[in-house]
Amino acid sequence: MKALLRWKQSYHIFLGAHHQKSQLTAKQLSSESAYRSVEPLRIDVESDESTNAAFKKITQKFNRVACLIHNAGACFDSYIGKEITARQAWNRTWDVNVSRAHAMTIASLLLLLNSQHPRLLFITGGLSSLQAASYSSNQKNVIPAAGLPKTLPFVGYWSAKAGLNMLMVEWAKALRKDGVKVWVVAPEACSPH
Ligand SMILES: NC(=O)c1ccc[n+]([C@@H]2O[C@H](COP(=O)([O-])OP(=O)(O)OC[C@H]3O[C@@H](n4cnc5c(N)ncnc54)[C@H](OP(=O)(O)O)[C@@H]3O)[C@@H](O)[C@H]2O)c1
Repeated sequence: MKALLRWKQSYHIFLGAHHQKSQLTAKQLSSESAYRSVEPLRIDVESDESTNAAFKKITQKFNRVACLIHNAGACFDSYIGKEITARQAWNRTWDVNVSRAHAMTIASLLLLLNSQHPRLLFITGGLSSLQAASYSSNQKNVIPAAGLPKTLPFVGYWSAKAGLNMLMVEWAKALRKDGVKVWVVAPEACSPH
């Protein structure tokens, strides 16, 4: 977001979020930037009704989207066994992190292709790389002792982000000849050292 605000081209930025806190962030960012406008966009990515309403709001103002960033992410692993079952947690994790990114990419294709320099970004996580997750020297890779119980604290979240990586690869191939630049970005540095 900060990089977008500093970018030399003037963008109108829709900042999607489902909580009031992020709506306030959009207002604050907009007031801090003289050349950009940041507009809060109420969206719950788990709801088709909400995502449809958000796209309607965008298309009422613009006929193109230069850059779509799939930033929304959530981890429900810690609720397993307390409020929800493992299956419920996994379904929700995959819905927020992966399924909605696919559905929203499909919904925004026409808007992206209307842009001169379309970009599509997926926000993943360092340990969703199969290679990084396999390094025994990586301190984040904890190998539990033999015997039960086995706890896998973030397995649903990391698995979903690994799925998101594959989704990015597939969209990068599908949109290559349309000139859409597609990336996956991991916020934290995950190194085997
Ligand atoms: N922070 C890290 O160390 C880290 C590491 C690896 C990957 N990531 C990824 O980076 C991205 C941003 O994470 P963050 O660190 O900024 O965490 P965060 O503060 O928890 O941000 C998550 C964002 O997702 C939004 N979100 C969650 N569920 C949503 C829903 N159903 N509908 C709409 N928006 C929803 C939240 O909106 P509200 O504010 O409205 O709830 C929030 O803006 C995520 O994809 C996360 O998985 C972060």
